[in-house]
Amino acid sequence: MLGIYFSGTRNTEYCVKLLSSLLGETETVSLENPSAAKKLEENDTIIFGYPVQFSNIPYFVRTFIEKNGEIWKGKQVLCLATMGAFSGDGAGCAARLLEKKGAVILGGVHVKMPDSVCDSPLLKKSFEENQQLVEKATEKIEKVASDIKRQIYPKEGLSFLAHVIGLFGQRLWFYHKTRAYTKKLNIHENCNGCGICAQNCPTQNLSLLDGKAVAGNRCTMCYRCISKCPQKAITLLGKKVVDQHVITKYV
Ligand SMILES: Cc1cc2nc3c(=O)[nH]c(=O)nc-3n(C[C@H](O)[C@H](O)[C@H](O)COP(=O)(O)O)c2cc1C
Repeated sequence: MLGIYFSGTRNTEYCVKLLSSLLGETETVSLENPSAAKKLEENDTIIFGYPVQFSNIPYFVRTFIEKNGEIWKGKQVLCLATMGAFSGDGAGCAARLLEKKGAVILGGVHVKMPDSVCDSPLLKKSFEENQQLVEKATEKIEKVASDIKRQIYPKEGLSFLAHVIGLFGQRLWFYHKTRAYTKKLNIHENCNGCGICAQNCPTQNLSLLDGKAVAGNRCTMCYRCISKCPQKAITLLGKKVVDQHVITKYV
């Protein structure tokens, strides 16, 4: 078994690593790792984790699935989607795509985690509330692991009803946001050119020019750079960084 994940601000990484270790399987790999496709090829049972974006899968994740289309054939996959509040069919979004590539879907898990959109006050919770969310998420993953050991797989986000809720609840209205990479990342005046954003970007969308960060047109909206910038000089959906998200604060 292999735990494979994409994780902008490490919520999903936390969940996939926890589930994998509870199932006695310690190997996990990020989609960003150049060896991810090879590891995928070598394993038949996969835990596939990603964060929900506008009730959809991040474009980076979609691209990985498409690029490695042949490898998924016959794989048994459990889709694990993390989210700040709601997705409807977060797990189903990847599950449907993977089924088209010949994968067998074992189940779907939805895990509520702290919201990673750190430049908007919209879904912000207090430190204690986020701590409780992570505690509940941990308990849920422990329960999922114990069920899986008895061959019971959760089916969250996989039903037709979930599909309809995800579609009409959000995805339809925001579909354009996840259909491709975006060029809308904003670097503000106070950038001091430290380069942390460029070093951490999963799509190599950031570079340094004349001592300042510059964003290209390959942002997958993962929010990692925004959460890591020491100057709080990067924004995407909002205008000002409210609360940089780091899962380690709550574990
Ligand atoms: C661009 C963007 C869009 C998001 N859209 C949703 C959403 O539609 N529903 C939801 O519940 N959470 C949404 N979230 C929150 C994330 O899914 C959630 O915080 C996730 O656990 C982050 O995982 P990560 O740390 O592994 O990147 C969104 C986050 C981002 C950055």
